[in-house]
Amino acid sequence: MNPRKNRLDTGLEAHPSSSLPEQLSAMRALSAGVAHEIRNPLAVIQSLVEHLAKKTEDETQKKIAEAVVSEVGRLNEVVTEFLEFTSTPPLHFEKTVVKTLIDRALAFAIHPEKHRDIIVKTHIPDDMPEVELDPAAFHQVLLNTLLNAIQAMKGSGTLEIHTSISDHHFIVQIKDTGPGIPPENQEEIFLPFVTTKRGGAGLGLAISHQIITRHGGTIFFKNSEGKGVALFIDVPRKQNRKK
Ligand SMILES: Nc1ncnc2c1ncn2[C@@H]1O[C@H](COP(=O)(O)OP(=O)(O)OP(=O)(O)O)[C@@H](O)[C@H]1O
Ligand SMILES: [Mg+2]
Repeated sequence: MNPRKNRLDTGLEAHPSSSLPEQLSAMRALSAGVAHEIRNPLAVIQSLVEHLAKKTEDETQKKIAEAVVSEVGRLNEVVTEFLEFTSTPPLHFEKTVVKTLIDRALAFAIHPEKHRDIIVKTHIPDDMPEVELDPAAFHQVLLNTLLNAIQAMKGSGTLEIHTSISDHHFIVQIKDTGPGIPPENQEEIFLPFVTTKRGGAGLGLAISHQIITRHGGTIFFKNSEGKGVALFIDVPRKQNRKK
């Protein structure tokens, strides 16, 4: 699927022909710029209020000033974390046992009580050869896609995970029995900020798409409305070049 339509108010539609990686990197640059601009005045506020806290003799004022310093410090941490989040760290490819990776992502995504009515079926051959990928980044993709499948099923359904391997490809299929993706949303779900969920950021699939593209792979879905989504992650078994 090649998402071209962009109805979002992100300021990115000024370049409707730009590709998804270009849009993501524009978004990253924009967010990093905003975060950076927030940090500078925060540092000024922090040092001015620290100065006031030292100067004042009034205990109440001292306490208020110290509270402001501590809250500003917290804001600073949030913004710093955000800056780290928006940067794209290089991938570190290594030979990985994908079964372990999938089991770990499942353990993260499935809550034993909250999801007790979700049946999980995994079809992963025990003798599956290792695949060369970035385990941390791939974990993030698995988690994002598993969470989407679980959230779509709203508490009950069947989650199936199939893996297959050929000479050059490794494929994971994540299948749910949720409502599927309505036709009007299908073109755009890999775009950043596209969400149909209350409180959703709409970033899970955009980030996953970027990670898989950087592996030299593809991510796509087959949708049967009313019957659920089968999401496919297809990556090369071996990396020819380091990215
Ligand atoms: N398995 C699925 N079944 C039905 N709809 C899905 C499925 N996966 C994704 N979608 C649709 O695609 C949209 C975008 O998904 P994406 O993971 O990018 O963002 P999100 O889940 O809404 O928010 P976030 O992942 O950032 O918390 C979802 O809001 C949902 O409408
Ligand atoms: Mg999601």
